[in-house]
Amino acid sequence: MMFMVKTLNFSSADVNVYFKSLDEALDEILEDGYSKVLAVTHYILLEIYDLKNTFKRRNIDIVVLPEGEKTKSLSKFIELSKIFFEHSLDRYSHVIVLGGGVLGDLCGFLCSVYMRGISFSLVPTTLLSMVDSSIGGKNGIDLDFGKNLLGSFYHPKNIVIDLNFLKSLPEREISSGMAEIIKYAILDDSFILDEIKKERPDIGRLVELSIDIKSRYVKEDEREKTGKRALLNLGHTLGHAIEARTLYSRFTHGEAISIGSCFAAFFSYCLGYANIELYKEIKSLFCKYNLPTSYPTDLDVDSIEQYVLKDKKNISSKIRFVIMKDFSDVFIYTTDFPQIKNCLLKWIEYEKN
Ligand SMILES: NC(=O)c1ccc[n+]([C@@H]2O[C@H](COP(=O)([O-])OP(=O)(O)OC[C@H]3O[C@@H](n4cnc5c(N)ncnc54)[C@H](O)[C@@H]3O)[C@@H](O)[C@H]2O)c1
Repeated sequence: MMFMVKTLNFSSADVNVYFKSLDEALDEILEDGYSKVLAVTHYILLEIYDLKNTFKRRNIDIVVLPEGEKTKSLSKFIELSKIFFEHSLDRYSHVIVLGGGVLGDLCGFLCSVYMRGISFSLVPTTLLSMVDSSIGGKNGIDLDFGKNLLGSFYHPKNIVIDLNFLKSLPEREISSGMAEIIKYAILDDSFILDEIKKERPDIGRLVELSIDIKSRYVKEDEREKTGKRALLNLGHTLGHAIEARTLYSRFTHGEAISIGSCFAAFFSYCLGYANIELYKEIKSLFCKYNLPTSYPTDLDVDSIEQYVLKDKKNISSKIRFVIMKDFSDVFIYTTDFPQIKNCLLKWIEYEKN
């Protein structure tokens, strides 16, 4: 371990990252003396990790929410607001969120507005939430007509990275998290690149390096105003469109980002910014972690247009696409759907051969 507790200093908040077991971290977190502490988690985690005992002996009440993207909904948001109220949470209370990105996004958003803001800690239990969604203060819920449409920027007070939780995480979810880690390697971290190429990469080191790189991008552009933070959306223009087009039920977030990143590399090649060797190398990284690397050809290319056009990075109707020249050399390229479609069709043809 490189550190046990590290403070990330963002302009709007300081965030403590505990690289410790949940038990050890909880003792330190609770020293802050809250009027009431409530934990929110999934049933599966309560069972596997005997969390009832962990929380009950510290007088922490537990709320259990169902798994899956559907939990990031307005109805669950309202339901949970009522639960906060019924548990008499006030401004001096604290919420501990133990789960993946779905629970983190929902609860982070509610904590940002409940009584105009109460403090919370995130205990990410998926690889993706350890390396990505828990860092950076973005929260939100989905509406019927779009993902993450209601949300806020609001940082947790603490993040607890307890790698033990990964022991029960299905292989597919580990791969999903690896997709975001590979994205960081493309963006600008040669240490990550070296590690992921190893026969047996050190997950703890990858998590630490990923937290460093994500927090660096966020610090430089916390509210996504200058374009720096938007680079973290590498692979997300097509990735989000594929997720939405398949109703968030066919691909994990990381799988969709893997397809989107491979396309971003091919698009960069089509535009003349990168050579085909870069595309092949990037594709092989995602392949190594059993991630999908080609367009799902049963999805008509025209049918994803409406989703690509709704990407939150877009300004007016201009699509802002993250393109690469090489590893550590990425930039935002302004394009339109016909250009994307043209290259998608070429990519499908290329992959057939
Ligand atoms: N806020 C951000 O910056 C940000 C960034 C990336 C993704 N996201 C959001 O994160 C969400 C995806 O997060 P996710 O991939 O963590 O998915 P998730 O929260 O749905 O978790 C995936 C599955 O793994 C299960 N699970 C969680 N921890 C487990 C464990 N330790 N052992 C066994 N099973 C476990 C969950 O119950 C769930 O079924 C999406 O809604 C996405 O939009 C947010």
